Amino acid sequence: MTSEATATTLESTTTSTLGSTTTATTGQSSPTADELSEERLSMVENQISARQIQDPLLLEAMKAVPRHRFVPDDLQKYAYEDHPLPIGFGQTISQPYIVALMTEALAVAPGEKVLEIGTGSGYQAAVLAEMGLTVYTIEIIPELATRAESVLGHLGYRVMTRAADGYFGWEEEAPFDAIIVTAAPDHVPKPLVDQLAPGGVMVIPVGPIGAVQTLWKFSPGADGELLAESLGWVSFVPFTRAEE
Ligand SMILES: C[S@@+](CC[C@H](N)C(=O)[O-])C[C@H]1O[C@@H](n2cnc3c(N)ncnc32)[C@H](O)[C@@H]1O
Repeated sequence: MTSEATATTLESTTTSTLGSTTTATTGQSSPTADELSEERLSMVENQISARQIQDPLLLEAMKAVPRHRFVPDDLQKYAYEDHPLPIGFGQTISQPYIVALMTEALAVAPGEKVLEIGTGSGYQAAVLAEMGLTVYTIEIIPELATRAESVLGHLGYRVMTRAADGYFGWEEEAPFDAIIVTAAPDHVPKPLVDQLAPGGVMVIPVGPIGAVQTLWKFSPGADGELLAESLGWVSFVPFTRAEE
């Protein structure tokens, strides 16, 4: 089982409003070189390739995205270690291998459109953007949404961000070729299923709150029904709901 760490708190001074939509973009170029690039290459080799993740586009993206820029300053030196890290507000940036496992399972190609529920730090969204996908991401904690939007923008990633309850997906932009959910609900939200394009894939951890979950990949079968494939046990932070 792979576990997400229980997070400690990190307060942010920024705020935004649930339901707001913004685009994080300051340029088209991707950052590639930085002071921790050696640690990043080692992470990809020893934690990702070594565990049979093979998608070359994904491996190159994880070599390029400066993961340390997505974690609090005092934790940057741990950014390339083999575990999740706290990002504040009781939330985590996922273990690098879990990011890779979920992303590879999406089986996406450059130019496709992907929806992420659970922006968190913005790292997963950056990896998807680095792979040439059109990325939409929703975060329920406004302060995290604002911070992720800022980091993504500073790094030059064009990602559409929204602070909202991701249960309802992003209907105006549907359908999506892939949907990735990075918090664990106790059931698969029907609006997300409805927003999958024909042939689309969804990767989502599902299970009771406080217990381990099953990481599911839903993909179309021959008759058009969604087929469920278990990718193993995981332990994600809970999928929370906005107050009605
Ligand atoms: C494990 S963290 C995500 C890590 C993130 N993908 C990253 O790369 O840093 C899960 C995130 O899902 C968010 N979340 C939980 N329930 C949500 C919901 N209903 N809608 C949108 N985001 C939600 C949490 O606030 C948290 O930031």
